[in-house]
Amino acid sequence: MSNPVYLALDVPQLEPAKALVEKVKAHIGGVKLGLEFFCAHGAHGVHEIAHCGLPIFLDLKFHDIPNTVAAAMQAIHVYEPAIVTVHAAGGRAMMEDAKAAAAAGTKVVAVTMLTSLDANDLTATGVYGSAETQVMRLAELAHAAGLDGIVCSGQEVGMVRKAWKDGFFVVPGLRPAGGGTGDQKRVVTPRAARDNGASVLVIGRPIARADDPEAAARAIEATL
Ligand code: C5P
Repeated sequence: MSNPVYLALDVPQLEPAKALVEKVKAHIGGVKLGLEFFCAHGAHGVHEIAHCGLPIFLDLKFHDIPNTVAAAMQAIHVYEPAIVTVHAAGGRAMMEDAKAAAAAGTKVVAVTMLTSLDANDLTATGVYGSAETQVMRLAELAHAAGLDGIVCSGQEVGMVRKAWKDGFFVVPGLRPAGGGTGDQKRVVTPRAARDNGASVLVIGRPIARADDPEAAARAIEATL
């Protein structure tokens, strides 16, 4: 089985980012590049990281009208991303068109609700009802739209896997046993998330900020 760990490369400067990937690449399965990286380093940055030979996850969280999202999805074919994210709140037609425009080898997964939002924030945007209800509603919409899966927490992935047997689930917010939790509040270990049905484990600071990133990545790999 291939290594499910994608390193979240939330490193602002390109050279340190490249150096980090070189250090840990034998012990990870891919690299996640987010909006910050993409806006700062653009096409050049993505190609530089792709040189490491690992699959690339472009976490760009597309959310716009279907035509625009489909065009953006086509524009990123050049990067041959393994995984791309869109917002489920963009609606069924947007997700259908996103999937149709994605390259055959690209998994398109939906962000349901940002974990930075609480019930009050939801109400302020006109969404009444609990966060859980909203997450489940959007997960069903993503499924119906033909997406490959969703982004969810390690605590939710078991439940989501039961409802969506062949889904592709991306799980962030993971912390190895015995480590600090930083600003992530509801954490599970990479192993537990994997056992509960995660397809991809997104891990950033536990590797990037470790005194010895290579050893940290190797130790995580050994638990899986
Ligand atoms: O450093 P850490 O392992 O917490 O990084 C997790 C990565 O996953 C970051 O890139 C973060 O933006 C992303 N993420 C998250 N929680 C979510 C969604 C995405 O931590 N709910």
